[in-house]
Amino acid sequence: MTWLITGGAGYIGAHVVRAMTAAGERAVVYDDLSTGLPGRVPDGVPLVTGSTLDGERVVRALADHEVTGIVHLAAKKQVAESVSLPLYYYRENVEGLRVLLDAGASAGVRSFVFSSSAAVYGMPDVNLVTEETPCLPMSPYGETKLAGEWLVRAAGAAAGLATACLRYFNVAGAARPDLADTGVYNLIPMIFEKLTDGLPPRVFGDDYPTPDGTCVRDYIHVLDLAEAHVAAARALRSAPGRNLTLNIGRGEGVSVREMIDRVNALTGHDRRPTVSPRRPGDPARVIASADRAAVELNWKARHDIDAMITSAWSGWLRLHPSAARP
Ligand code: WQD
Repeated sequence: MTWLITGGAGYIGAHVVRAMTAAGERAVVYDDLSTGLPGRVPDGVPLVTGSTLDGERVVRALADHEVTGIVHLAAKKQVAESVSLPLYYYRENVEGLRVLLDAGASAGVRSFVFSSSAAVYGMPDVNLVTEETPCLPMSPYGETKLAGEWLVRAAGAAAGLATACLRYFNVAGAARPDLADTGVYNLIPMIFEKLTDGLPPRVFGDDYPTPDGTCVRDYIHVLDLAEAHVAAARALRSAPGRNLTLNIGRGEGVSVREMIDRVNALTGHDRRPTVSPRRPGDPARVIASADRAAVELNWKARHDIDAMITSAWSGWLRLHPSAARP
C-alpha cells in the first residue's frame, strides 16, 4: 500500500514515516513546510509541498503516487496560540481535514489514520482516562481535534473508509538527535531551556491534589507513538467501515517535579525548580488507560521516561552545545 503522510516533515510525522517504511509500507510526504523541515524526509520518500487546504494539489498527489491510505498529522498544535487565533485553527485543522477527506474519497483512498489528542478530554476528573471518558475540550485546539474525529467518523462511514483516531498523550523523545522536536512548547524542552540559560526550571503550580502537588501527565516516546501508527494502518487493512478511536499513552503518570528530577539526574545538571503560579486550564492529572490500544492493535509502549529524556537531550545538545556544561 502507498500512504500519504501529511505533516511527514514534522517532528512526529518524520518518525511515523520512518516506522511505516521500516515496516515495508510505501510513503509519500505531503507537507506545507510551515513548521516541517525537508531534511527530515528520508531519501527515497517523495516530498510534495502543499497545504491540505489545496484540494487540487492533494488530488494530484494522491493520483500521481497511487495512494490508497492517508495518515493525517498536518495540523497546528499550540494550545495557547489556538486561544488567540481560533479561526486560524479551525481553518487549518478542521477545514484542512475536510478538504483532505473529500479528496481522499474521490481518489479511492480506503484507509485514514487521524492524529488526535488527549486535549479532546479537557479536564478529565478520573484516575485513568478511557476512550469513554466524556470529551470536553478546554481550548480551540482541543475542539478542532474533537471536531476532526467527528468528521473522520462521519465521512469514513459514508464513504466506506476504514478509519482510526489516535489520541496522543504527551509526546517526547526522538529516534535520533536530528529528528528531535525543535519547538520549546512542552515541559521537557522548557526544562532544557532553563538549564541551558543557567536558570531554575519552573513548576507551574505545586498545590494540585496530586502526591507531590504538581501536575501529572502520561508521557509517551515518539518511537512508540510511531509504532502505534503502523499497527493502526495494519488494523485498517481490508476492514472497510471500521473505526478505531484509541488512546495512545503508557498508562503511567509522571509529575512535573519527578520529571525535573530525572532531567537533572540524566543531564548532569542540578537546578532545583522554582514554583510559578498555576497555568490556566491545566488539569491536575491526565493518564491514559492504554488497554484498548493493546487489545485492538496488539501494541504497547516500550520506552520509559529516561529514554525520552536522554534522546530529547541529545537533540537539544545538537542545537545548544553549551547546555552540556552544568
Ligand atoms: C505538561 C505539564 C504544565 C512547562 C499540551 C497540550 C496537549 C498536547 C501536549 C499537542 C503541565 C507543566 C510545563 C514548564 C511546568 N499538545 N509545566 N513547567 O499541557 O499537558 O499538554 O501539550 O498536541 O494537547 O495541552 O503539556 O508539556 O505543556 O505541560 O510546570 O516549564 O508541565 O503546567 O502541567 P500539556 P506541557
